[in-house]
Amino acid sequence: EGKQIFKGMNFLITAGATREKIDPVRYFTNHSSGKMGYAIAEQAAKLGANVILISGKTDLNPPDRVKTIMVESAQDMLEKVLEYYEETNVVIKSAAVADYRPVVTYDKKLKKQKDHLTIEMEKTTDILKELGERKNKQLLVGFAAETNSLEEYAKSKLTRKNLDLIVANNVTTEGAGFGTDTNIVTMFDRNLNKVELPLMSKRDVAIKLLEKIETMMKEERP
Ligand code: PMT
Repeated sequence: EGKQIFKGMNFLITAGATREKIDPVRYFTNHSSGKMGYAIAEQAAKLGANVILISGKTDLNPPDRVKTIMVESAQDMLEKVLEYYEETNVVIKSAAVADYRPVVTYDKKLKKQKDHLTIEMEKTTDILKELGERKNKQLLVGFAAETNSLEEYAKSKLTRKNLDLIVANNVTTEGAGFGTDTNIVTMFDRNLNKVELPLMSKRDVAIKLLEKIETMMKEERP
């Protein structure tokens, strides 16, 4: 049993991939297994936080002492997150949200076309950016899944989305990113202080991240 350092604090954590429907049998998604977000939710609850986990479809069991809410699309995730945002102290957005969805969702199975099929896509709402714009007391933590220029893109997301902290991972590095039980992350806080962590279990990444959050909560807020 950990120290109850987050007792009385409300944490909102997102995990897993969203699914954007094409028709009743097909959808667009990505490789997120939910492991990173579930590990954070589990550890935050162990440290005494009231945790709400908003999750896309995964094969994982809901963590103990965590209120887990399953969602499907980016739009569903947005709506659920906004429902709880006001009373939240810390938001951690480890979900891999689809950036685009099909403009049309067919209600019957799409029949086989000729040789090519074109599906028009439109942007989904950037949930994190939306939260950054509405931020008052919340400490807002984003993730950045990159394949190149990790530091540059992560810092740009930190500023553009008005975050307090960003956790960047290179999803093409062995042992990091999607599906694995381990991760390799670099954290940048709002003052651009950098913490570079070696390969470790997602559970240990979660513990390190929560330690950083605890430190930041003690600091003066901007
Ligand atoms: O689930 P696992 O298999 O354990 O894998 C973990 C992980 C690789 C998914 C995780 O560590 C991770 O990097 N999560 C973020 C994935 C992602 O969508 O990154 P991004 O760089 O595209 O987005 C940046 C941030 O904006 C993220 O916090 C994302 O949740 C958020 N976002 C993105 C798009 C959108 N429409 N709304 C959002 O809120």
